[in-house]
Amino acid sequence: MARFEPALVSEHLSWSSFAGRHANELLPLPHTREAVDLLVARIAQVQDRLKRRIAVENVTTYLRFGASDMPEWAFVGEVVRRAGCELLLDVNNVYVNSINHGFDARAYLDAIDPACVSEIHLAGHERVGSRLVDTHAARVAPAVWELFARALERMGPKPTLIEWDAAIPPLEVLLQEADAAAKHLASEPSHA
Ligand SMILES: [Fe+2]
Repeated sequence: MARFEPALVSEHLSWSSFAGRHANELLPLPHTREAVDLLVARIAQVQDRLKRRIAVENVTTYLRFGASDMPEWAFVGEVVRRAGCELLLDVNNVYVNSINHGFDARAYLDAIDPACVSEIHLAGHERVGSRLVDTHAARVAPAVWELFARALERMGPKPTLIEWDAAIPPLEVLLQEADAAAKHLASEPSHA
């Protein structure tokens, strides 16, 4: 942070290590009060140490825990509200989870407090069997562009990043995707 002075510092709402072993993957959390408490304490620790607010990002998941007793959007909203941090809203991740777990992606977006969203992510996903997988290796899907437009309608324009980090296409394709995002952003007046 001292060296690059980033505008935003973020981490994922997930876990990746246990008993000294680290997984190179964003593993899912149960959506419970206990997990909210744990995340709020951990985020406070990070923010105290860094002396700045961080943003946390909603992740894609491929299973649900039987112990979960609240919808993902309530879980994410509660963590952000109680931790006093920001939300990096990954719209593609919302869509992927809505298909994998069978909820309404629009209801998710509608439940998010626009004031706490500091950045939006978009990305491409791919279908593998009955699941959508967040591969970051394809164009943003039409349904995700639609959700992005809905998010901007509610939240106003937000800094937006398209994640494409595997099977990188020709630069022209990346520029077309960036251009499509810019057009959406330009069509929304600021809500600030
Ligand atoms: Fe993301």
